Amino acid sequence: MKFESAPTILVVDDEEYICNVIEEALSSEKYSVVTMHDPAKALEYLQDHPVDLVLSDIIMGDLSGEMILEAVLSSQDDAVVIMMTAHPTVQTAISVLKKGAYDFLVKPFKLELLKSTIQRALAHQQVLRDNVRLRGQVEFLKVANAHTSGIDIDSLLQMVVDSCKKELGAIAVGLLEIDPKTGELIRQACAIDQPDLESQVLNLDSLKKFTGTWRPKPVIDGRRIKQSGQALVRIAIYQPIFIRRTLHGVISLIIESHFGQITSGQLDVLSILTNTVASSIANHILYQNLQQSYLEAIRGLANAIEARDKYTSGHTDRVCILAKEVARGMDWDEQQIYDLIMGCTLHDIGKIGVPDSILNKSSVLTQDEMKKMQRHPELGLRIIRGISLFKPAIPYIGSHHERWDGSGYPKQLKGEEIPLEGRLLAVVDTFDAILSDRPYRKAGDINSAVQELLKYRGTQFDPEIVNLFLGLIRRGAIDFKKLYGLDEATVNLDEIIVSEKVSV
Ligand SMILES: [Fe+2]
Repeated sequence: MKFESAPTILVVDDEEYICNVIEEALSSEKYSVVTMHDPAKALEYLQDHPVDLVLSDIIMGDLSGEMILEAVLSSQDDAVVIMMTAHPTVQTAISVLKKGAYDFLVKPFKLELLKSTIQRALAHQQVLRDNVRLRGQVEFLKVANAHTSGIDIDSLLQMVVDSCKKELGAIAVGLLEIDPKTGELIRQACAIDQPDLESQVLNLDSLKKFTGTWRPKPVIDGRRIKQSGQALVRIAIYQPIFIRRTLHGVISLIIESHFGQITSGQLDVLSILTNTVASSIANHILYQNLQQSYLEAIRGLANAIEARDKYTSGHTDRVCILAKEVARGMDWDEQQIYDLIMGCTLHDIGKIGVPDSILNKSSVLTQDEMKKMQRHPELGLRIIRGISLFKPAIPYIGSHHERWDGSGYPKQLKGEEIPLEGRLLAVVDTFDAILSDRPYRKAGDINSAVQELLKYRGTQFDPEIVNLFLGLIRRGAIDFKKLYGLDEATVNLDEIIVSEKVSV
């Protein structure tokens, strides 16, 4: 493995004394100088050794300096080549410069000129290398901007993997995030050129390399391979992701190069990108903990409602479970499901403002009492107004008593004017209410709850949601034993459908 150090200069000239003079002249400089007076050996040397600069004679018996030039440019990433000749012609000069030589020296030359030309060439090379590094930083800034703009964690990890691949010239990059307590995989991302490398960069065993350590230092393995007759070094880099000294994952890269060169600049880019990943994962964990705390606070509010109404005990939890099943049936994403849980948990929060005498009345409500009871969606909206966290709950609280035919409350919305969230909740809320004891009646059975949904499908309820829900029951997706302690054998949807002469 070669890291950035004193520039390596290869001098190729079939006249040994010229090699010696140049070596002597450069000895006072901070260069690592290798001289070769056999151009064939120089070609061999170039196959296995990285160099920064090559100083080559043009005419050397059977082998020309142009062959050296081509060999350097084809095998070395950014090496610069200076050609020398004692027989200059304009044509030769143009030819070598066109082929990619950096400069051209005419022998005999003053050693001062040689030194200044080498300095200029290395400065030019440094600019190119800085440019590559800056490009890496631009990539880093892109990722950092995405990180601060609140992009979702999966997209950010994919972006980091893509950036690693691009900036480090990798042929495969994989990122694994684990639960540090269980070691189980949480999420992964990869970018690969060859499918057979996927298992190598997405291998949970690679995390074992960092057992017992907390230093974010990469492990680098290199081995020689042959590809299309060309000798290459395949380097695997494993960069651990630590958060507060705890291992949370690993980024694995595979790079193929001629000499197994990894520059400190490349490792810097990898380290910066890894830090961004670590801070994104840490933020994500904090956000999840915060969400969990909010949900617990919301549960506390729901419990406060249920504590006043002994008949609704467990109603919120069951409604959440039923609603989640329907939402999954509609392919809602995780954020929508999270909002749904919040909305279903808070949907009756307005009942806090309904007197106990009405809430627990064991006989039918009078018209005036009914009016007070029907104010609970609006009261609920007033309670959460101004709390931006509870915003997603608005459609659930505000429209779960609207009816498909426009005869519901509070706004008498009709059909698809009613938010989908409210239409969904109306179905499962009513279904659970029928299966629960009420102050004024005993709990009904599943058959009567299903019949109620069928009876009011298209008047009270969105018919498509009723169909979807009944489809879930038919497929056994609702655990009636767990939710209501009811034997599933009592649920025979097909029998009900036949007896009701309806289709689902
Ligand atoms: Fe309600």
